[in-house]
Amino acid sequence: MIHFYLNGQYKQLTDLNPNTTVLEYLRLHERQTDTKEGCGSGDCGACTVMAQRLPSSDEDSSDLPFYTLNACITLLSLMDGHHIMTSAYIADNPEHHPERALLHPAQQAMVECHGSQCGFCTPGFVMTLASTYENHRLQVAKGTIKDDLSYDDIVAAIGGNLCRCTGYRPIIEAGLAMSEIGRQRDADQTIAKDLTISLATDAMANSRQTVSSEMGTIEPALNQGSRKLFIPKSVAELNQVLAAHPKATIWAGGTDLGLSVTQHLVDHDIIVQLSAIDELKSWSLQALSLNTDEQSKSDSEVEFLVLGAGMSYKSMLPALEQHFPAFANLFERIASPQIRNMGTIGGNVANASPIGDLPPILLALDTHIHLRHCAAIDNSINSATDNINVNNVHSNQVSSIDEIIPLSKFFLDYKKTKLRAGSYVVALHIPLMQDNQYLYIHKISKRYEDDISACLLAARLDLSADGMTIQDAKFGLGGMAAIPLLAAECQQALIGQAVNVASFEQAAQRLPNDVSPMTDVRASREYRMHVMQRLIIKCGKQLVADVQAVDA
Ligand SMILES: Cc1cc2nc3c(=O)[nH]c(=O)nc-3n(C[C@H](O)[C@H](O)[C@H](O)COP(=O)(O)OP(=O)(O)OC[C@H]3O[C@@H](n4cnc5c(N)ncnc54)[C@H](O)[C@@H]3O)c2cc1C
Ligand code: FES
Ligand code: FES
Repeated sequence: MIHFYLNGQYKQLTDLNPNTTVLEYLRLHERQTDTKEGCGSGDCGACTVMAQRLPSSDEDSSDLPFYTLNACITLLSLMDGHHIMTSAYIADNPEHHPERALLHPAQQAMVECHGSQCGFCTPGFVMTLASTYENHRLQVAKGTIKDDLSYDDIVAAIGGNLCRCTGYRPIIEAGLAMSEIGRQRDADQTIAKDLTISLATDAMANSRQTVSSEMGTIEPALNQGSRKLFIPKSVAELNQVLAAHPKATIWAGGTDLGLSVTQHLVDHDIIVQLSAIDELKSWSLQALSLNTDEQSKSDSEVEFLVLGAGMSYKSMLPALEQHFPAFANLFERIASPQIRNMGTIGGNVANASPIGDLPPILLALDTHIHLRHCAAIDNSINSATDNINVNNVHSNQVSSIDEIIPLSKFFLDYKKTKLRAGSYVVALHIPLMQDNQYLYIHKISKRYEDDISACLLAARLDLSADGMTIQDAKFGLGGMAAIPLLAAECQQALIGQAVNVASFEQAAQRLPNDVSPMTDVRASREYRMHVMQRLIIKCGKQLVADVQAVDA
């Protein structure tokens, strides 16, 4: 069974096609048509709704952030344990304002600033602005920020919403006007609608499903005919579900998979949703050995940032800001806020798209990937040969084999990886950068935000102690071949060379030996080759400037 609130109303469902999206549920099941469908592929934001996780027993609902998502590609089951809000809900009700419902500050600002013309995009913009307003208000109340929302804040917030007739200026003005409207209402002591579902009013609080951890007793959360959707609550349960259903579709944020439903009309039979597994949604710093030789272990211990595969872009950003600022800076170029709230690192890597943004960066950073292969006990899998840490875990019914391998060995061919039936990605292990290492990332796409890369270069450059020589170089390439990969010849050409632009010009000439890109709608092969060679040289110029800045 899944439980959630829709616009303040408690819902629970079991008999539902697991492939049902939030948008389909709203418009066709609930007949709530205020949320619009534009593209059906996560691009336009017309279907944007707002959500808030329901509080657990030790949480205060007023502390939980609001977030937006694209209803068109998000499975309804991902809203289990959440409150979904649409534009029809956020105005205050006639109970407090019998004459006329009081519009939410985001709605009122859109009216006052003439932010809507045909109106088709408006509910989506309103929910994006409302979420931005509510989160800002929350932070102001906590004292974590004092300033009003800025122009840049609003522009970043609406990066995933398209308007084809009003134009963005009035909408940005509306975003900038919201805070003042809210302040004025506070001054007038106007009652504002409380959008949160508190623990006291949450009908779910006492009725959370308890799921047995015994093999074969994990019930599907949704079940209709042959179609089933499981929501395991721990990795142990996930292992059991995958051992029983090795061919199930593993569903993380669904920002890639959702399109299989809406664009390719796939009706997934068995889905295993990762959203409730906290172990996959956390990060840590761990000292790990890269060597299987026990005696030399201490010599080669390296500190890694370990990111759980189920971490969304939004949730991993603080860890990256702290440890890999150049990596974190790219995030505003990846998709939109709606997609970054849902999409995960595990999904981006497992999807194995040659134009996914994270794999080239992770490759350049020498990342290792932690895989787990699950099977029923009488059908266990042989361990892989190139792993650096093998750990067999047996329960009465399930065998699971873990391996941590270099990410460069994970991608085999176009959309083919080391994952097999019953496998999943547990985490990504990224070695922390040292003082002599520099990271540069360049994404090339037609639009600044919410656009897939034509190509992407991530360069990690290691210098000698005196800063004069390149000790090691890693160039992660996206959009240049059938898989994300390292440019081995270019890298080799740089090792031992002086830190100057000429070294990079020579290395860039080797690129045709590493890759032969293809022409597609995003770019021609000639463009890709030319721009990537120029980006390699650009990294050289950046390195020279950075080294000079350190010396100065
Ligand atoms: C509008 C739009 C814009 C986008 N822009 C970008 C962009 O700029 N850059 C970019 O790189 N991507 C972009 N994407 C693609 C997508 O958002 C990312 O690839 C995202 O990280 C996928 O993560 P997810 O959790 O949504 O994956 P899902 O859709 O849930 O899954 C993707 C694949 O990974 C598998 N999978 C997921 N988690 C695991 C796991 N732990 N173990 C094993 N298999 C797993 C699934 O079975 C599936 O095959 C965009 C998508 C949309 C719709
Ligand atoms: S309808 Fe366009 S993003 Fe959902
Ligand atoms: S108001 Fe018409 S598309 Fe935005």
